[in-house]
Amino acid sequence: MGIRISPSILSADFGHLVAECERVAGAADWLHVDVMDNQFVPNLTIGPVVVEALFKQVSTPIDCHLMISDADKWAPGYAEIGAKSVTFHVEAAANPRQVARDIRAKGARAGMAIKPGTKLDDYEELFPELDMILIMTVEPGFGGQSFMSDQMPKVRRSREIIRDLNLDTWIQVDGGVAGATIAECADAGADTFVAGSAVYNKPDPVAAISELRASAQAATDASWWCSH
Ligand code: DX5
Ligand code: ZN
Repeated sequence: MGIRISPSILSADFGHLVAECERVAGAADWLHVDVMDNQFVPNLTIGPVVVEALFKQVSTPIDCHLMISDADKWAPGYAEIGAKSVTFHVEAAANPRQVARDIRAKGARAGMAIKPGTKLDDYEELFPELDMILIMTVEPGFGGQSFMSDQMPKVRRSREIIRDLNLDTWIQVDGGVAGATIAECADAGADTFVAGSAVYNKPDPVAAISELRASAQAATDASWWCSH
Protein backbone atom coordinates (compact mmCIF):
# COMPACT_ATOMS: atom_id res chain seq x y z
CA MET A 1 0.00 0.00 0.00
CA GLY A 2 1.59 3.28 -1.12
CA ILE A 3 1.66 6.24 1.21
CA ARG A 4 2.03 9.91 0.39
CA ILE A 5 3.85 12.71 2.22
CA SER A 6 2.62 16.24 1.58
CA PRO A 7 4.79 18.89 3.27
CA SER A 8 2.84 22.01 4.26
CA ILE A 9 4.50 25.20 3.10
CA LEU A 10 2.83 27.08 5.95
CA SER A 11 6.04 26.46 7.90
CA ALA A 12 8.30 27.38 4.97
CA ASP A 13 9.96 30.76 4.40
CA PHE A 14 7.35 32.78 2.50
CA GLY A 15 10.05 35.16 1.34
CA HIS A 16 11.47 32.37 -0.83
CA LEU A 17 8.36 30.37 -1.54
CA VAL A 18 9.27 28.82 -4.88
CA ALA A 19 12.74 27.87 -3.65
CA GLU A 20 11.22 26.38 -0.50
CA CYS A 21 8.83 24.30 -2.62
CA GLU A 22 11.62 23.13 -4.90
CA ARG A 23 13.77 22.20 -1.90
CA VAL A 24 11.59 19.12 -1.32
CA ALA A 25 11.04 18.25 -5.01
CA GLY A 26 11.61 14.56 -5.61
CA ALA A 27 11.19 13.76 -1.91
CA ALA A 28 7.62 15.01 -1.43
CA ASP A 29 4.73 13.34 -3.25
CA TRP A 30 2.59 16.47 -3.01
CA LEU A 31 2.94 19.98 -1.64
CA HIS A 32 0.25 21.12 0.76
CA VAL A 33 -0.81 24.75 0.36
CA ASP A 34 -2.99 26.22 3.12
CA VAL A 35 -5.40 28.91 1.96
CA MET A 36 -6.97 30.88 4.84
CA ASP A 37 -9.37 33.81 4.66
CA ASN A 38 -9.51 35.15 8.24
CA GLN A 39 -13.23 34.23 8.30
CA PHE A 40 -13.40 30.47 8.41
CA VAL A 41 -10.22 30.46 10.51
CA PRO A 42 -8.57 33.30 12.47
CA ASN A 43 -5.59 33.53 10.14
CA LEU A 44 -4.86 34.84 6.66
CA THR A 45 -2.42 33.37 4.14
CA ILE A 46 -2.52 33.48 0.36
CA GLY A 47 -5.28 33.47 -2.25
CA PRO A 48 -5.72 32.41 -5.86
CA VAL A 49 -3.28 34.92 -7.38
CA VAL A 50 -0.26 33.65 -5.43
CA VAL A 51 -1.43 30.03 -5.58
CA GLU A 52 -1.70 30.22 -9.38
CA ALA A 53 1.83 31.65 -9.57
CA LEU A 54 3.04 28.64 -7.55
CA PHE A 55 1.36 26.16 -9.90
CA LYS A 56 3.36 27.68 -12.74
CA GLN A 57 6.70 27.54 -10.94
CA VAL A 58 6.61 24.37 -8.88
CA SER A 59 7.15 20.86 -10.23
CA THR A 60 5.49 18.88 -7.41
CA PRO A 61 1.69 18.58 -7.65
CA ILE A 62 -0.14 20.89 -5.29
CA ASP A 63 -2.75 19.85 -2.78
CA CYS A 64 -4.79 22.93 -1.87
CA HIS A 65 -6.36 22.96 1.59
CA LEU A 66 -9.03 25.66 1.57
CA MET A 67 -9.81 26.99 5.04
CA ILE A 68 -12.22 29.54 3.63
CA SER A 69 -15.90 30.38 3.89
CA ASP A 70 -18.27 29.87 0.97
CA ALA A 71 -16.49 26.86 -0.47
CA ASP A 72 -19.36 26.44 -2.94
CA LYS A 73 -18.31 29.63 -4.66
CA TRP A 74 -14.52 29.48 -4.40
CA ALA A 75 -13.34 25.87 -4.40
CA PRO A 76 -13.84 24.97 -8.10
CA GLY A 77 -11.79 28.03 -9.12
CA TYR A 78 -8.67 26.52 -7.53
CA ALA A 79 -9.07 23.49 -9.78
CA GLU A 80 -9.48 25.80 -12.74
CA ILE A 81 -6.19 27.60 -12.09
CA GLY A 82 -4.21 24.37 -11.79
CA ALA A 83 -4.58 22.55 -8.45
CA LYS A 84 -4.39 18.79 -8.89
CA SER A 85 -6.25 18.34 -5.60
CA VAL A 86 -8.67 20.76 -3.94
CA THR A 87 -9.89 20.17 -0.40
CA PHE A 88 -12.76 22.21 1.01
CA HIS A 89 -14.15 22.17 4.55
CA VAL A 90 -17.55 20.57 4.94
CA GLU A 91 -18.37 23.17 7.60
CA ALA A 92 -17.90 25.89 4.98
CA ALA A 93 -20.04 24.34 2.24
CA ALA A 94 -23.79 24.73 1.77
CA ASN A 95 -23.89 21.72 -0.59
CA PRO A 96 -20.76 19.58 -0.10
CA ARG A 97 -21.86 16.97 -2.65
CA GLN A 98 -22.12 19.62 -5.34
CA VAL A 99 -18.79 21.21 -4.39
CA ALA A 100 -17.05 17.82 -4.76
CA ARG A 101 -18.73 17.31 -8.14
CA ASP A 102 -17.75 20.79 -9.29
CA ILE A 103 -14.10 20.22 -8.34
CA ARG A 104 -14.02 16.92 -10.20
CA ALA A 105 -15.71 18.50 -13.20
CA LYS A 106 -12.81 20.96 -13.40
CA GLY A 107 -10.38 18.05 -13.52
CA ALA A 108 -8.97 18.00 -9.98
CA ARG A 109 -9.18 15.46 -7.20
CA ALA A 110 -11.93 16.42 -4.75
CA GLY A 111 -11.06 16.43 -1.05
CA MET A 112 -13.32 17.18 1.89
CA ALA A 113 -11.95 18.21 5.29
CA ILE A 114 -13.59 17.94 8.68
CA LYS A 115 -12.63 19.87 11.79
CA PRO A 116 -11.95 18.10 15.10
CA GLY A 117 -15.38 19.01 16.49
CA THR A 118 -17.31 17.79 13.43
CA LYS A 119 -18.78 14.29 13.41
CA LEU A 120 -18.13 12.09 10.43
CA ASP A 121 -21.49 10.30 10.70
CA ASP A 122 -23.53 12.84 8.77
CA TYR A 123 -21.18 12.74 5.78
CA GLU A 124 -20.49 9.06 5.27
CA GLU A 125 -22.75 8.91 2.23
CA LEU A 126 -20.52 11.46 0.48
CA PHE A 127 -17.49 9.17 0.34
CA PRO A 128 -18.16 7.93 -3.22
CA GLU A 129 -17.99 11.57 -4.37
CA LEU A 130 -14.56 12.11 -2.80
CA ASP A 131 -11.00 11.39 -3.86
CA MET A 132 -9.77 12.30 -0.39
CA ILE A 133 -11.14 12.80 3.11
CA LEU A 134 -9.05 15.05 5.35
CA ILE A 135 -9.39 14.36 9.05
CA MET A 136 -7.97 17.41 10.82
CA THR A 137 -5.79 16.50 13.80
CA VAL A 138 -5.61 20.10 15.09
CA GLU A 139 -8.02 23.03 14.95
CA PRO A 140 -7.34 24.52 11.53
CA GLY A 141 -5.57 27.86 11.36
CA PHE A 142 -1.98 27.50 12.50
CA GLY A 143 1.05 25.27 12.16
CA GLY A 144 2.99 23.84 15.06
CA GLN A 145 0.04 22.76 17.23
CA SER A 146 -0.21 19.52 19.22
CA PHE A 147 -1.58 16.41 17.54
CA MET A 148 -5.06 15.30 18.64
CA SER A 149 -5.07 11.53 19.10
CA ASP A 150 -8.79 11.64 19.81
CA GLN A 151 -9.41 12.10 16.08
CA MET A 152 -8.10 8.60 15.28
CA PRO A 153 -11.53 6.92 15.56
CA LYS A 154 -12.65 9.06 12.59
CA VAL A 155 -9.63 7.89 10.60
CA ARG A 156 -10.46 4.28 11.50
CA ARG A 157 -14.11 4.72 10.56
CA SER A 158 -13.11 6.33 7.25
CA ARG A 159 -10.90 3.35 6.46
CA GLU A 160 -13.77 0.96 7.21
CA ILE A 161 -16.13 2.85 4.92
CA ILE A 162 -13.57 2.92 2.11
CA ARG A 163 -12.87 -0.78 2.51
CA ASP A 164 -16.55 -1.75 2.73
CA LEU A 165 -17.47 0.27 -0.34
CA ASN A 166 -14.28 -0.73 -2.16
CA LEU A 167 -13.39 2.89 -2.86
CA ASP A 168 -10.02 4.41 -3.71
CA THR A 169 -10.51 7.49 -1.51
CA TRP A 170 -7.32 8.68 0.19
CA ILE A 171 -7.33 9.47 3.90
CA GLN A 172 -5.28 12.52 4.82
CA VAL A 173 -4.31 13.72 8.28
CA ASP A 174 -3.17 17.28 8.91
CA GLY A 175 -1.90 18.89 12.10
CA GLY A 176 0.82 17.84 14.50
CA VAL A 177 1.89 14.99 12.23
CA ALA A 178 5.54 14.30 13.10
CA GLY A 179 7.98 11.51 13.92
CA ALA A 180 6.20 10.76 17.19
CA THR A 181 2.65 10.71 15.78
CA ILE A 182 2.74 9.58 12.15
CA ALA A 183 2.75 5.85 12.97
CA GLU A 184 -0.43 6.23 14.99
CA CYS A 185 -2.13 7.87 12.00
CA ALA A 186 -0.97 5.16 9.59
CA ASP A 187 -2.01 2.44 11.99
CA ALA A 188 -5.50 3.95 12.19
CA GLY A 189 -5.84 4.01 8.41
CA ALA A 190 -4.36 7.24 7.04
CA ASP A 191 -2.34 7.01 3.83
CA THR A 192 -1.66 10.69 3.05
CA PHE A 193 0.27 12.74 5.59
CA VAL A 194 0.62 16.51 5.81
CA ALA A 195 3.57 17.74 7.83
CA GLY A 196 4.52 21.39 8.16
CA SER A 197 6.81 22.04 11.10
CA ALA A 198 8.06 18.44 11.09
CA VAL A 199 9.52 19.08 7.63
CA TYR A 200 10.29 22.77 7.24
CA ASN A 201 11.47 23.44 10.78
CA LYS A 202 14.10 20.73 10.40
CA PRO A 203 17.63 21.48 9.18
CA ASP A 204 17.26 18.90 6.41
CA PRO A 205 13.66 18.78 5.11
CA VAL A 206 14.45 16.01 2.61
CA ALA A 207 15.84 13.76 5.35
CA ALA A 208 12.82 14.61 7.53
CA ILE A 209 10.49 13.47 4.74
CA SER A 210 12.37 10.15 4.39
CA GLU A 211 12.14 9.52 8.11
CA LEU A 212 8.43 10.30 8.17
CA ARG A 213 7.89 8.07 5.16
CA ALA A 214 9.77 5.17 6.73
CA SER A 215 7.74 5.38 9.96
CA ALA A 216 4.44 5.65 8.12
CA GLN A 217 5.29 2.79 5.78
CA ALA A 218 6.33 0.48 8.62
CA ALA A 219 3.15 1.22 10.56
CA THR A 220 1.04 0.73 7.43
CA ASP A 221 2.62 -2.64 6.65
CA ALA A 222 1.84 -3.83 10.19
CA SER A 223 -1.67 -2.30 10.33
CA TRP A 224 -5.09 -3.94 10.60
CA TRP A 225 -6.25 -2.44 7.35
CA CYS A 226 -3.37 -3.01 4.98
CA SER A 227 -3.83 -5.92 2.63
CA HIS A 228 -0.39 -6.78 1.31
C1 DX5 B 1 -3.22 24.03 9.93
C2 DX5 B 1 -2.84 23.63 8.52
C3 DX5 B 1 -1.72 22.68 8.45
C4 DX5 B 1 -0.44 23.12 9.09
C5 DX5 B 1 0.13 21.92 9.75
O1 DX5 B 1 -4.47 24.57 9.92
O2 DX5 B 1 -3.93 23.06 7.85
O3 DX5 B 1 -1.51 22.21 7.13
O4 DX5 B 1 0.53 23.63 8.21
O5 DX5 B 1 1.26 22.29 10.45
P1 DX5 B 1 1.99 21.27 11.44
O6 DX5 B 1 2.36 20.06 10.63
O7 DX5 B 1 3.15 22.05 11.92
O8 DX5 B 1 1.01 20.92 12.53
ZN1 ZN C 1 -3.55 22.11 5.94
